[in-house]
Amino acid sequence: MRFDMNRLSGQERYKILASTIVPRPIAWITSISADGVRNAAPFSFFNMMGNTPPTVAIGLMPQDGRLKDTAANILATGEFVINLVDEQNAEAMNLTCIDAPANIDEIDLARLPVLPSETVAPPRIASAPVSMECRMLSSVVTGPLQTIVVGLVNMVHIRDEFVLDAERCYIDTPRLGLVARMHGSGGYLRSGDYFQIDRPTWKEYTEGKADRPKPSPV
Ligand SMILES: Cc1cc2nc3c(=O)[nH]c(=O)nc-3n(C[C@H](O)[C@H](O)[C@H](O)COP(=O)(O)O)c2cc1C
Repeated sequence: MRFDMNRLSGQERYKILASTIVPRPIAWITSISADGVRNAAPFSFFNMMGNTPPTVAIGLMPQDGRLKDTAANILATGEFVINLVDEQNAEAMNLTCIDAPANIDEIDLARLPVLPSETVAPPRIASAPVSMECRMLSSVVTGPLQTIVVGLVNMVHIRDEFVLDAERCYIDTPRLGLVARMHGSGGYLRSGDYFQIDRPTWKEYTEGKADRPKPSPV
């Protein structure tokens, strides 16, 4: 079956992409408006983009013909915090996707405990296992009111219990218990089903020492 994206409606294009590009990590973003109103909302069009400098990208779509509060806040102030979401925070995170008016502080609404950030004004969520203080490096307008924000990560807070060896930057990733966004409204995935495949080198491959997988059935 083929889906010609140019012939589909926006909602249909969303369904095709969001049902297939899964699982997606969730950036639970805290930001502050130019008027000082705090905001929290989840975004799963999110990933790491590089390490020198350390960059992340977030895709923000419009809502009701205007920028989402998070997009407006980041574009106005250049500052935001990405909080990662574990299972204990999943319901609170889900509540903050509510289409509340711009003057509503979702941090208060979801009764989120927060701590001050060190390099940016928006607070970080204290119950999140990981929080990343970010500044906007650039933004790309990809459509009417649709924007990709590229963020520079300045400071990362990881709760002590998840740091195995700070010197070596070893993190106990499985214990973070992060959840990811799946297809469909309200669909999430736990990150417990881990498996490993060794990364090949060309030398090992040509010497016949690397695994040669059988062709997948088509
Ligand atoms: C898990 C999850 C992931 C989401 N990811 C995105 C996303 O990547 N981009 C987007 O525009 N909206 C996304 N949304 C919807 C926004 O969170 C929602 O529109 C929210 O009301 C925006 O809040 P704001 O106006 O306070 O920024 C997501 C919602 C949920 C529950």
